[in-house]
Amino acid sequence: MAYKNLLLEVEEGIALLKINRPKVLNALDRETLMELQGALKELAQRGDVRVLIITGEGQKAFVAGADVAEMSEMGPQEAYEFSRLGHETLKMVEEFPCPVIAAVNGYALGGGLELALACDLIFASEGARLGLPEVTLGIFPGFGGTQRLPRLIGKARAKEVIFTGEMIEARRAYEMGIVNRVCPPERLLEEAKEVARRMAKNGPVALKMAKKVVERGYDVPLQEGEELEISAWANLFSTHDQKEGMRAFLEKRKATFKGE
Ligand code: HXC
Repeated sequence: MAYKNLLLEVEEGIALLKINRPKVLNALDRETLMELQGALKELAQRGDVRVLIITGEGQKAFVAGADVAEMSEMGPQEAYEFSRLGHETLKMVEEFPCPVIAAVNGYALGGGLELALACDLIFASEGARLGLPEVTLGIFPGFGGTQRLPRLIGKARAKEVIFTGEMIEARRAYEMGIVNRVCPPERLLEEAKEVARRMAKNGPVALKMAKKVVERGYDVPLQEGEELEISAWANLFSTHDQKEGMRAFLEKRKATFKGE
């Protein structure tokens, strides 16, 4: 399907999704969020996608936030619906059935950083700047930032980011544990694709279930998380891929996974 504000391509199991509103630094308006939902559904339904990379079109920004022009005249009801739309969209990213890598190629601010936080890994280019500047606009993060950032880096450091609204350099974000790796700008997409290709070689059901167990297990007591792991792990033994993966190891050959 063709999208107005997104560019989408799939090559050898790696989907590359670009937010494409470079004139406004890829700001997320309602239309783009709706399109993002459509694209995520489309990609999840295709059988051939193993890893998804999300990035921003242009040299300057990943996503510079939710669209301030669109939000500026909203009343509380519209704001509620907008926040909910963002949450639902980012939940779809978080629950996407394959690994998702955010390739942060420039500003990742407000809703942009929140989008990246919903991805499984964040790679950032040197020179990228990340932050939650919402308080400078008289609001606070509304696409999950108040929840996902403290869970990722701890409450105190997240509060510093949220309360100051200041931007953080990519290296600092790496030191804080927000970003997995920092790459030279010209290498960013290639490094994301290299890691994606390495992940894509592995059993798709195992990846999907590992992601699910990490996500679901993160917010429940340890014992409950352990139970989730045991059940999901045991279920893998009803899949072709588990049999194939282990047989291939024993026969000293490369496994051919089917994703079932
Ligand atoms: C709408 C945006 C935008 C945004 C940039 N633009 N960010 N439009 N929403 N979030 C537009 C600018 O208005 C400008 O349009 C064009 O993109 C280029 O931006 P400039 O500001 O001219 O570029 P520059 O001087 O290089 O500054 C870059 C910047 C700055 C530092 C990233 O654009 C900036 O501070 N942007 C806003 C960042 C922000 O506050 N994000 C959080 C939003 S709130 P024109 O027409 O002038 O060329 C949020 C809430 C999420 O995300 C939760 C909601 C529920």
